[in-house]
Amino acid sequence: MIRSPFGFLLSLGILFAAGCTTEPILEPAEPVLHDPTPYVLEVGHFPPPVLPEDNPMTEAGVQLGRMLFHEKKLSGDNTQACADCHLQSNNFSDMAVFSTGIAGEEGHRHSMVLSNLAWHVHHGGSHGHGFFWDGRAATLREQVLQPIEDAQEMDESLENVLVKLGSDQEYVDQFKRAFDAEEVNADLIARALEQFLFSMVSNQSRYDRWLLGEVELTESEERGRVLFFDEFDPFNPETSGADCAHCHSGLDFSNHQFGNNGLDADADMEDIGYMGVTGEEMDRGKFKTPSLRNVMVSAPYMHDGRFVDIDAVLDHYDHGAVSSTSLDPMMQYNVDYGLGLTDQDRADLIAFLHTLTDVAFLENPAFSNPH
Ligand code: HEC
Ligand code: HEC
Repeated sequence: MIRSPFGFLLSLGILFAAGCTTEPILEPAEPVLHDPTPYVLEVGHFPPPVLPEDNPMTEAGVQLGRMLFHEKKLSGDNTQACADCHLQSNNFSDMAVFSTGIAGEEGHRHSMVLSNLAWHVHHGGSHGHGFFWDGRAATLREQVLQPIEDAQEMDESLENVLVKLGSDQEYVDQFKRAFDAEEVNADLIARALEQFLFSMVSNQSRYDRWLLGEVELTESEERGRVLFFDEFDPFNPETSGADCAHCHSGLDFSNHQFGNNGLDADADMEDIGYMGVTGEEMDRGKFKTPSLRNVMVSAPYMHDGRFVDIDAVLDHYDHGAVSSTSLDPMMQYNVDYGLGLTDQDRADLIAFLHTLTDVAFLENPAFSNPH
């Protein structure tokens, strides 16, 4: 369509030019404009999350975050992107026990799964809701810049990142579209990554379809579900539940709080976890309760990746937990009595955990590498 007389003349010019010369035709470059089209977060049967009002999600902002999440230029030697330690097929965690940073140095914690982070947002209160295993970042916006500057991870200065992105026209344009920005800056990088991470919703597993009444669980899955949610009765360990939902609760299978599930005795705690943030002795060895969505594809497990597979995890909860000062009272029962899981119980629990695998999420092209 010809919208203006100018456009009309231009098209006419191009037509004429096209008619009488073989020179390549250079169309005038379209000016890049701010595009505030809101991003519609598909939450399905989840309640709408309460997101920070000062960072409204837009199509262009989420797309910029996606570009940055897969951008190796965020690292010191341009070899490592966020996505290299957060693999989509692994529920955005790493298959390695400790991810190796660009300097070849291993971190001391296992990479974390990334899904449904929009529901981890902190809304006041002194405990719970924070990012990283130890909760040291109160918001995602604060969190996302840390791996860039971490010497054991991407080991790059924000100043260098700004220079690299600022000299890449694709990024300059996308920052303009997303934030109406004339210049790339660190705050906007953080906002874009935050928007992208909020967009990563996993709620299309078999379990979700069961919640919606669309499928039935098999007998084994159903028995596993009951075991997972039912309370543990130390006086009848054979017949009572495993009470996993005591901590892995709600639609995201996490209370988003910090807990001690009995991995180490006080003397053996190499990593003090949440205590490093709060300074409280009672928080020694507490770590963020991970979501169990897609858990069957996100091994190895725990903050230090000590368990190679789900069998090792179940061994731990069944009879491997040890006592310590900050041990969750619920776990004290596991220590004193053991869960008494039979082989059938274990098979059923695992069958249930498989229902949390969300292939649509793990293969969603909207989260994949756009470069
Ligand atoms: C070298 C590997 C590595 C790279 C690169 C990396 N991460 Fe991580 N990520 C980790 C590890 C390890 C943790 C846990 C660290 C801790 O708790 O101290 C983590 C934790 C997180 C968390 C916390 C999740 C939660 O539930 O609290 C988020 C979010 C995250 N990373 C996003 C990113 C983003 C965004 C980037 C790129 C800017 C990135 N990561 C780059 C390894 C990495
Ligand atoms: C007292 C609270 C509590 C209970 C009960 C509990 N967990 Fe956990 N779970 C946690 C905490 C806290 C972590 C993280 C611990 C760490 O890394 O130091 C965790 C970690 C895990 C992980 C590792 C996930 C990952 O991404 O690394 C799995 C798997 C798991 N729990 C499964 C279960 C199952 C199955 C049950 C029931 C048999 C259960 N949990 C019961 C609190 C609990």
